[in-house]
Amino acid sequence: MNFSRRVVEWQRSHGRHGLPWQSTRDAYKIWLSEIMLQQTQVSTVLPYYAKFLERFPNVTTLAAASDDDVMAHWAGLGYYSRARNLHNAAKQVVAKHGGVFPDDVELLADLPGIGRSTAAAIAAFAYDVIAPILDGNVKRVLARHAAIEGFPGVSAVEKQLWIEAAVRLPKKREDMVAYTQGLMDLGAAVCTKSDPHCLLCPIADDCAAKSDGRIADIPAPRPSKKIPERSQRYLLALHGDAVLLVKRPAPGIWGGLWCLPELAEADDPATVASLRFGVRKVAATTELPAFKHTFTHFRLTLAVTQLLASRIDPATNTPGTIWLARNELKTAALPKPISTLLAEL
Ligand code: ADE
Repeated sequence: MNFSRRVVEWQRSHGRHGLPWQSTRDAYKIWLSEIMLQQTQVSTVLPYYAKFLERFPNVTTLAAASDDDVMAHWAGLGYYSRARNLHNAAKQVVAKHGGVFPDDVELLADLPGIGRSTAAAIAAFAYDVIAPILDGNVKRVLARHAAIEGFPGVSAVEKQLWIEAAVRLPKKREDMVAYTQGLMDLGAAVCTKSDPHCLLCPIADDCAAKSDGRIADIPAPRPSKKIPERSQRYLLALHGDAVLLVKRPAPGIWGGLWCLPELAEADDPATVASLRFGVRKVAATTELPAFKHTFTHFRLTLAVTQLLASRIDPATNTPGTIWLARNELKTAALPKPISTLLAEL
């Protein structure tokens, strides 16, 4: 039996039935369900769906409603750009299509908030149009069945998956509702991300990832973003019980916090200490072991030169500089890696 036949028969006997959007051919109600079901579970959608349809039973009522009224009926579902797009799409259906959702995938995909896959799902469920869907779950089903390597979010991989989706389509329009729902149901309940239920799967016999023993590796996970590396030298000047700190400028990392003075790559620490911070006599300088701190957008390697000052002239301090007694460090606003370093001294 070919791929689509097995999916259709499996859906008819084992797939989900009785969901409210499955008992209608009204494109408005199907469209609404598909938008609500983006990024949201069926159980969450059900009560919102019912209340929304009670207030806005057709596209004309929705198009004529105020923004506030629409948002109030979406409140709690999240991803609110969906509600704004929904409202705008309803207005366009009324203005451009005479209040009737088009049965053409391209025209549906031109409406706000309707991507290519959602357009195909609406066209299949409402009008039996033969067009491929490719949502996140279906990508996983097809990536495994065809053993497509690579992360599906990469456009070359996604392009291949659209081809796999197209070649598997049924030939008969009357199969499109069960087929489209069947792919969704397989992805949601059988071909799960981890521990898929291959024994229950109607397309396991010729699943390439399964026969290759690659189910756990396909689809490939999102590649981890390489975060940029930066490095910075710091001066840790100590005088008796006191540590030299400078207040950082407001924009940039650690803005407004007290930190060790930065050294440029070529700076001589003793010269900087003398010219900028009034250190009159240096007893010793030592390179401390470098350490790393990870920010959201980069990783910083901190190289620290410790300098023991035996005589200072606080009057020559540049503004925004203090020699802070060690016992006051606990209450000062210091960046985390700096307070950790100073606590370990
Ligand atoms: N998720 C997206 N579309 C769906 C549908 N028609 N049924 C169940 N879950 C879905």
